[in-house]
Amino acid sequence: MKKNKISKNWLRKQNKDIYVRKSKIEGYRSRAAYKLEEINNKFKIFKNNQSIVDLGAAPGSWSQYISKNIKNIKILAIDLKEIKKIENVFLLKGDFTNQKCQNQIKEHFRNKVDIILSDMAVNTTGNKTIDSIVTGELTIEALHFSEQFLLKNGQFVSKIFMGSTFNEIISLAKKIFKETHVFKPLSSRKDSKESFIICKFLR
Ligand SMILES: C[S@@+](CC[C@H](N)C(=O)[O-])C[C@H]1O[C@@H](n2cnc3c(N)ncnc32)[C@H](O)[C@@H]1O
Repeated sequence: MKKNKISKNWLRKQNKDIYVRKSKIEGYRSRAAYKLEEINNKFKIFKNNQSIVDLGAAPGSWSQYISKNIKNIKILAIDLKEIKKIENVFLLKGDFTNQKCQNQIKEHFRNKVDIILSDMAVNTTGNKTIDSIVTGELTIEALHFSEQFLLKNGQFVSKIFMGSTFNEIISLAKKIFKETHVFKPLSSRKDSKESFIICKFLR
């Protein structure tokens, strides 16, 4: 399919999408906020006073959701792209896979954190197999980081694609955490291979 035909189809889908309309009314920068809301409703992730890392956070709707709904949180949001200011959120621009960035996150908090979220995904190449492999590698990197930097009772939530890295990610998650769940929110597009893993309690 030609590129402008793909973007016309994308625009048509966006205009019809109830979550896109809802996000505009409620002031969220993207419809992704509702995926996190559904995850939280089902798995009870957030409580007041937590420390949270939001990986792949741009444009910022996950951090907005947390900042609006949870009291007294310490949250750091990082992305390759610039993120516009969000109340109560510390913003970092950089590549999470870079050791220097990971050190900056650790220095910011000093102590281990309660929650690590990752919605990181590569810019689509048009090849769904390649996209899911590269995004899978980001999830694996985030899992290793969580193993080092989460508190014992910590939680990890990440986007995961149904693809060749799926089984590898699930078995790694099960080695690191006592509980691992896979969940596809209703607000995640049906035709997307995206789901989320929710992991709790380090082994
Ligand atoms: C689906 S978007 C995230 C949406 C976000 N959760 C929200 O609610 O607004 C995926 C993001 O991952 C970011 N990303 C991809 N690779 C990254 C990396 N290596 N380090 C940091 N961010 C990365 C992309 O720049 C993109 O903004």
